[in-house]
Amino acid sequence: DEIKEEIKIFQAKKYEDLEKFRIKFLGKKKGILTILFKKLKTIPIYKRKLYGTIINDLKKKVQEKIQMNHTKNFIKKENTLNFDPTVPGKSIDIGSIHPISILKNRIINIFRKIGFSYVEGPEIENDWHNFTALNFPIDHPSRDMQDTFFLHRNPDILLRTHTSSVQIRYMKKHCPPFRILSIGKVYRNETISSRSHFMFHQAECFSIDRKVSFSDLKKTIQYLIKSLFGEVKIRFRPSYFPFTEPSAEVDIYFKNKNNRGWLEIMGCGMIDPKVLKNVNIDSEIYSGFAFGVGIERIAILIYQINDIRLFFDNDIRFLRQFKSDF
Ligand code: PHE
Repeated sequence: DEIKEEIKIFQAKKYEDLEKFRIKFLGKKKGILTILFKKLKTIPIYKRKLYGTIINDLKKKVQEKIQMNHTKNFIKKENTLNFDPTVPGKSIDIGSIHPISILKNRIINIFRKIGFSYVEGPEIENDWHNFTALNFPIDHPSRDMQDTFFLHRNPDILLRTHTSSVQIRYMKKHCPPFRILSIGKVYRNETISSRSHFMFHQAECFSIDRKVSFSDLKKTIQYLIKSLFGEVKIRFRPSYFPFTEPSAEVDIYFKNKNNRGWLEIMGCGMIDPKVLKNVNIDSEIYSGFAFGVGIERIAILIYQINDIRLFFDNDIRFLRQFKSDF
């Protein structure tokens, strides 16, 4: 009864009072009720039930008291003290899509419309996929066209110098006809400047079927350029690649406030029968075209950027300026 009374008259003035009250009765070691509960075991069975009801009841009362005092006296005050609704909220930075990714998505969509599937290949390659199967003769200067990063003292393992290696990987595993697009990073040991970097992106596009011709190649390239740039002038220049015959390079005519002129954006050609033979495709039945586009070159023209390094500095002020329509 004494305890009951003490509980009844308790009123907390400060938060600490309430905490003291709680510890006094319910504290883990010395709380009055905790000790009484421990004694329960030593009480003779016939009294135990009554005794148990009494202390359970007391415990309930203590808890009610704490709850009541808490809501009545402290919650409101705590809220008014800790929360100021006039303080501006913390702003959360929202990321944006990298311009190269925006272009990659656009190109994938452009080609999806004309039946090209999208695939990816590894950036770490071996010599066979990057050079030999593509008809680069061993010890031939054409290998030096693309300064290679080797990953090992054994010059078999390297960072791919172009996405044409994906042609080989895909053709080896699949039977024609197929129309394939692949986009990814390529690496060349070049001095970094406003116009070149040791890493950049290429889109590789190739199609194999019966009777694929050079005019199919031209039409596909014209479709890509028109989808990306609208009406612009382009020109095909004869060129050389070990894996295509005939081969060409494509230039685009650009105009902006400071400059105008032709800019080379891709290499292309009809896939050489020797390459088809390396991947067991019968060149008597099938023919195909391929082209490889530099994505940064396209980005430079579309966004009028004069330094390729900006794409890889990851300066948020630069990156935020690009809006994706996805
Ligand atoms: N792989 C060539 C390069 O990187 C481009 C290319 C691709 C040329 C496909 C012809 C056909 O320069």
